[in-house]
Amino acid sequence: MDLKSLERQNIINTYNRQPETTLLLQRGEGVYVWDENNKRYLDFVCGLAVNNLGHCHPQIVSAICEQAQQLMHTSNLYYTEPQIRLAERLVKHSCADKVFFCNSGAEANEAAIKLARKYGKQKKGEAFEIITASRSFHGRTLATVTATGQPKYHKGFEPMVPGFRYAEYNNLQSFADQICDKTCAILVEPVQGEGGVYPATAEFLQGLRRLCDEHNLLLIFDEVQCGMGRTGKLFAYEHYGVEPDVFTLAKALGGGLPIGAMCAKGEAAETLVPGEHASTFGGNPVVCAAANAVMDILLADGFLARVSHLGEYFKQKLAEISSPQIVTVRGLGLMVGLEINGDGAEVVRLCQEQGLLVNCIGGKTLRFLPPLIATEADFNTAVTILQNALTALD
Ligand SMILES: Cc1ncc(COP(=O)(O)O)c(C=O)c1O
Repeated sequence: MDLKSLERQNIINTYNRQPETTLLLQRGEGVYVWDENNKRYLDFVCGLAVNNLGHCHPQIVSAICEQAQQLMHTSNLYYTEPQIRLAERLVKHSCADKVFFCNSGAEANEAAIKLARKYGKQKKGEAFEIITASRSFHGRTLATVTATGQPKYHKGFEPMVPGFRYAEYNNLQSFADQICDKTCAILVEPVQGEGGVYPATAEFLQGLRRLCDEHNLLLIFDEVQCGMGRTGKLFAYEHYGVEPDVFTLAKALGGGLPIGAMCAKGEAAETLVPGEHASTFGGNPVVCAAANAVMDILLADGFLARVSHLGEYFKQKLAEISSPQIVTVRGLGLMVGLEINGDGAEVVRLCQEQGLLVNCIGGKTLRFLPPLIATEADFNTAVTILQNALTALD
């Protein structure tokens, strides 16, 4: 039986893969992936912001191989050096004082939710409510999907976890209106990803910081998608002159291997105590060795400045596309959304036909998460393909 039919037969159908259009990818190198027919694609999806440094980056591959030959897993009953080194570097290069490691974005946010509830109990009596934003995305576990401010993801799984309220993104008053004596934290993405690529305004995040200080709430930033250099800074909050009490990472941190991290500052970093949270695989030596290689690359001289430059370059090129279908271009660094009024799925299909992978959110927003190692020539190629696709549909 061919692989796509085997998939249908054996994998629970949560991804809506289509045998006619969903690619079977077999190999990757740098900005490219190849399918089963050896057709090459310029990858501007990057495993949904995981392969930020492209595919099979040699430094990451050799860090993984070296560590895999030395020690693959120990559990957290024991110390391992790659985990400790990674935590030290995340702390050194962020506002955080301490880190907890897990395996995914949802788990990192779960850890943050538990931390916030514990903090609320300690500091404010019985405060346990967390305010999150409309259009947000925080994961698919029961608590993180409840935190996700999109009712379509709740449908069928009710009753949801108690203790979440929703306010309008980029609307400070809307958040202020939801605060009560039960509130313990505010959780937002500095740049919303799955919701349609919406960067926060500085006024909004700075205002949330003020609200949290006034009401003794934890300010939690979900940097699962926008962190790790994606926006041209190591962490997106650095654009805003605001420091969160807690921020979460995953996706690109492991360079292609699964890892999550919850980074906490000050009192928040001391809130959880032994026995209150754990993860068998969390901070696994191989994954942390990969993440340390990722940090080496991102922190090399000029790397992040180049990402900022490329972000501007790409947005300018997108703005030059002539098509009546284009509504707006938005984003930060190399996290870019192009809103169109045409059929997004069809644009994705036409781009794919011409060798470019892009993703579409909600049928109308093309989401570009290009590799941070792409060149201006790669962006020119992508924009030409996109122009052709839009022209074909005009
Ligand atoms: C902002 C944000 N938070 C959390 C998650 C969930 O991460 P994971 O799929 O690794 O659980 C995602 C995934 O897309 C995300 O974009």
